[in-house]
Amino acid sequence: MKKFPKDFIWGVAAASYQIEGGVNVDDRGESVWDAFCRWEGKVDNGDTGEIACDHYNRYSDDVKIIRQIGAQAYRLSISWPRILPEGTGRLNQKGIDFYDKVIDACLAANITPWVTLFHWDYPLELYYRGGWLNRESVNWFADYTEVIVDRFSDRVQSWMTLNEPQCFIWLGHGTGTHAPGLQLDISDQLRVTHHALMAHGKATQVIRAKAKTTPSVGWAPVGVVRYPATEAPEDIEAARRAMFGMSGTHLWTNAWFGDPVILGHYPEDGLRQFGKAMPRYHDADLEVMNQPLDFYGANIYNGLTVRASEDAPFEEMKRKPGFPLTMYEWPVEPQSLYWGPKLLQERYQLPIVITENGLASMDWVCEDGKVHDPQRIDFLSRYLKQLHRAIEDGVDVRAYFQWSFLDNLEWNFGYKYRLGLTYVDYATQERTLKDSAFWYQNVIRSNGLI
Ligand code: NOJ
Repeated sequence: MKKFPKDFIWGVAAASYQIEGGVNVDDRGESVWDAFCRWEGKVDNGDTGEIACDHYNRYSDDVKIIRQIGAQAYRLSISWPRILPEGTGRLNQKGIDFYDKVIDACLAANITPWVTLFHWDYPLELYYRGGWLNRESVNWFADYTEVIVDRFSDRVQSWMTLNEPQCFIWLGHGTGTHAPGLQLDISDQLRVTHHALMAHGKATQVIRAKAKTTPSVGWAPVGVVRYPATEAPEDIEAARRAMFGMSGTHLWTNAWFGDPVILGHYPEDGLRQFGKAMPRYHDADLEVMNQPLDFYGANIYNGLTVRASEDAPFEEMKRKPGFPLTMYEWPVEPQSLYWGPKLLQERYQLPIVITENGLASMDWVCEDGKVHDPQRIDFLSRYLKQLHRAIEDGVDVRAYFQWSFLDNLEWNFGYKYRLGLTYVDYATQERTLKDSAFWYQNVIRSNGLI
């Protein structure tokens, strides 16, 4: 039996726009994702978050599902425009009431709420005022954070500022495949990044200054994992270089985000590479970004093997034909949950929380009325064994959040991919726990796996 540490936290995760629905009720303001879903051709099948999993009305049953699974913690996100319909200023009490009810239901069920402040549903009104391109966005986010902390920090202690900044910046402002669908040049993408990282820092300051109970603050960036082909020191060094070097000219990187936030400076190779495209900034901005954190969150789904090379910093290994792929065509790379936490901790010297991990597949209800998802069980089992190995090797991993407890809106892919432990029939909103939910329940109960 691979036992996890006694106080290890087993959780599940989800995000507001992906599950809530209720977009036009109770005075919620619009988010960039509402507008993006209306944009023809942007989301598969024309799917939208209008109803999603109807969690806005069914939160109480959903918390019961989380309880049934046995999760000790639930990572939820708060919809900024539900709280502040215009993004700043006017407060929507009905929005506050909703999260009050969700948080109270969690606590009553003995589930600790972990709150993500921003999981991509940016207020549309603020987008019209320049969004993340506007330096004021730093203050807008800090003001929103202050409201959230004021209302919920009597019951919430664990906070994550930004979810996957790499994604909402690169996909949302570079490739245009995510909301708000912009295709900015690299200079403006860097400007957006600079503001988002400052927003993270300022929000962290606000949490520390205003929280009513001692807070634990982190964030949830993408863990871009590269790992060594062998345990030879030169291959491990190649993995370090691949994981923390710039990856081409785009922003799918750890260090461009992690270094300023944790180490207080942008990485040299990135500054060299971006050269004149890098917007001018003040040194004081870096001080804002660089706030002490309590944990380094990482969303880890896959990785890539690299090895040492004579004439390059590293060599990427080609995968064999027929290599196992998820529906996303993301390779199944369990070792990413060993090397990811290990190398992230080595560089940033913080406890690690796996803020997301899970499998995209296309499950359905079988003839016997159950949802059999052996691939998800196999996937989670392989990944968790690697996480266990990391912990055995001394990596300080505090918690693991499976993504997600419920099938939900997978952004531009609509509802076609299913990542949940629970199957959702979107026509009836009926929920069916998949085999993997019972398997995970067992893992949690026994605090380990065989
Ligand atoms: C990352 C995102 O944070 C989440 O919203 C998304 O559904 C999962 N990964 C799966 O793609």
